[in-house]
Amino acid sequence: MKVPSIGTLSFGAVGLAAIVLIAIGPPGSHVAPPPPAPSGPAPSSVAFGGFTLTSDAVDLPIDDQQYPDGPHADVINANCTSCHSASMALTQPALTTDQWKATVIKMKEVYKAPVAEKDISAIVDYLTALSAKQGSAAPAGKESGSQGAPDASGGTG
Ligand code: HEC
Repeated sequence: MKVPSIGTLSFGAVGLAAIVLIAIGPPGSHVAPPPPAPSGPAPSSVAFGGFTLTSDAVDLPIDDQQYPDGPHADVINANCTSCHSASMALTQPALTTDQWKATVIKMKEVYKAPVAEKDISAIVDYLTALSAKQGSAAPAGKESGSQGAPDASGGTG
């Protein structure tokens, strides 16, 4: 077996040192994490490793789960809150009886809402009364001009 020369050995030692230094990385690249923030009331902002996280307050959209009390409120709450909250209907513009009926029938036929045939008129009555309360949103004068308005059943679903 051939004994390696001094040159080969020293070249190998330098190469090995270089590999070790690359693996360790430059000085300062391994810094101990800052001490944990003192416990107490949650800070409104936290700075860490160059990032600052700031707490903020958010106003969530209105999400009424149930339909407000009124005639047939029990019927609509029993039929219309299983898939989406009441706000889905409460945030609609004022609609006519026919438009509400089309919506309820769409729920039943397109989305397979288990609404009993006998409950439909009570639900439509409730929703129409709701629209009447909104009143100002759809003045009676505009009603006659809404004949050509798009159908409330809204396309193919
Ligand atoms: C089987 C599930 C289901 C039930 C039960 C249900 N809906 Fe819906 N409803 C939906 C889906 C799905 C949509 C569409 C959601 C979307 O477009 O993001 C929707 C949308 C609506 C909308 C928005 C307008 C529109 O036409 O899309 C209204 C209003 C509405 N529903 C009212 C009702 C009423 C009133 C009832 C009770 C008769 C009811 N829903 C029961 C599934 C249901």
